[in-house]
Amino acid sequence: MPETVHVDLPGRAYDVLIGPDLLSAAGRHVAPFLARPRVTVITDETVGALHLEALREGLASAGITLEALHLPPGEATKSWASVERCTDWLLDQKVERRDVVIALGGGVIGDLVGFAAAILRRGVRFVQIPTSLLAQVDSSVGGKTGINVRQGKNLIGAFHQPTLVLADTAVLGTLQPRDFLAGYGEVVKYGLLGDASFFEWLETQGPAMSAGDMGARIAAVQRSVQMKADIVMRDETEQGDRALLNLGHTFCHALETATGYSDRLLHGEGVAIGCALAFELSARLGLCAQEEPSRVRAHLRAMGMKTDLADIDGDLPSAEALLDLMGQDKKVVDGQLRFILARGIGQAFVTSDVPRDVVLNLLRDALRDRS
Ligand code: GLY
Repeated sequence: MPETVHVDLPGRAYDVLIGPDLLSAAGRHVAPFLARPRVTVITDETVGALHLEALREGLASAGITLEALHLPPGEATKSWASVERCTDWLLDQKVERRDVVIALGGGVIGDLVGFAAAILRRGVRFVQIPTSLLAQVDSSVGGKTGINVRQGKNLIGAFHQPTLVLADTAVLGTLQPRDFLAGYGEVVKYGLLGDASFFEWLETQGPAMSAGDMGARIAAVQRSVQMKADIVMRDETEQGDRALLNLGHTFCHALETATGYSDRLLHGEGVAIGCALAFELSARLGLCAQEEPSRVRAHLRAMGMKTDLADIDGDLPSAEALLDLMGQDKKVVDGQLRFILARGIGQAFVTSDVPRDVVLNLLRDALRDRS
């Protein structure tokens, strides 16, 4: 039996099932939500080639047929043009409100298809089948959907909760090690923001998890999803606590913009570096002991992850320019940057009360360590 995390939102409750071989059991899990035995699946070409047949067979074993649309892989697919392509195709497939659309893929597909489902016929149900570690522990849960536009990442979107999430931990075995570790950046984030014992567990179990230990993978995905579900149930639309999930993200978004959202820095890598910087900033502000950022960095290093600005290849802009980019973050309120800082591992909080000089000096020092 898979592990289950229940996201208990009034009128929009759903389960996240976690375990190996959920693709082959998909028919059994999806069937209760179907008015007719037919689903539409949107995936990308890479994931489709790896996993669509297993999903087709899993659905067929419960008598469910599927039609699939394959989109190009990559962040550029999270665009208005793709939304139009998805909605056109779904309408051509005669998808009705009582039908279910499946998003099979990583964060890009989940966010895009969730948004298309949110606006198609004013909202059709969708099932997330996340295939990357990042999507399993973060983006497939909590109902944030959307696309990128010229002005920034995820600036157009909607809250639209899935009907079901199937996190098949066996598919993680097909990820490139770099993609797996990038997703691990989001896993570490959960320990850092709210569960010191989970962080401690990762310090000992992280290497086994990375090497393929299925028990460790299931446990880590389950704990991460449970923490996310608890936060989303308290604050679905990010009026307060949900911002904690953005630990490391203000630094990360500036670094992603500076590196052109390219292969130089994957999102989860930016999150890991951002978490290390957020802890360093917390120590400089006297909020936590210097041992805390050192311990964060030691774990990231031990996992072979990008940890410092020095780990990003190529040129980076000046500290001033990076701070400006941080100011473009969509979490700016009344022109003030909001930071997620920590009083220690597992004790994050949100604040706008951070002197600009301290951040600038932190970035200057981090950039100097590159040279
Ligand atoms: N990825 C952050 C959130 O879902 O709120």
